[in-house]
Amino acid sequence: MKIAIGIAGASGVIYAKRLIEYLEKKCELFVVISKTAEHIFKSEIGCEFKEFIKTKDIKIYDNDDFFSPLASGSFIVDAYVILPCSMKTLSAVANGYADTLITRFADVAIKQKRKLIISPRETPFSAIHLENMLKLARLGTSIIPPIPAFYSNPSDINGVIDFVVGKILDEIGIENSLYLRWGD
Ligand SMILES: Cc1cc2nc3c(=O)[nH]c(=O)nc-3n(C[C@H](O)[C@H](O)[C@H](O)COP(=O)(O)O)c2cc1C
Repeated sequence: MKIAIGIAGASGVIYAKRLIEYLEKKCELFVVISKTAEHIFKSEIGCEFKEFIKTKDIKIYDNDDFFSPLASGSFIVDAYVILPCSMKTLSAVANGYADTLITRFADVAIKQKRKLIISPRETPFSAIHLENMLKLARLGTSIIPPIPAFYSNPSDINGVIDFVVGKILDEIGIENSLYLRWGD
């Protein structure tokens, strides 16, 4: 599977780190990180994003690289994920304002009717944020906010992160046992 991952400037870049770690050996990954998200990565994870990806077999594109294959609908990707997604990037996607590679690939996903998964992170959500999510949900986008559940009995923070990442993998259609399912 080919999967595009956009990391926007919201708190919770650790979810993207975990998704990349889980998928790097299983899929072909195309990753784009915004400038602010790079700063947040350093602040929340404690290392540079460039250091993290150094040993990873993934393709990385600058967020202003519109020559990237991800910028075109003719390049077929199985799923596009924005994790976490800032309210600014959410708004751009909801309004077709494709001024970065992340917002452009989301635009491509919508126009090509491909799987788009967005994980918006903010609290509280304003009516503007909610309207943008509703607009995208009506277009078929999966809105999976990084909200943990506790029926899976997470024993630590990793369990909380794996629940959200597991839900995203479910939506992509990748079998996983990252969290304890209800009934298991
Ligand atoms: C440390 C830090 C945390 C932030 N967390 C959030 C957040 O959780 N949600 C959000 O919508 N914006 C957050 N922002 C603001 C966005 O980064 C800002 O609106 C930026 O323009 C988003 O651009 P991007 O989506 O292209 O990365 C945060 C900024 C910083 C510096």
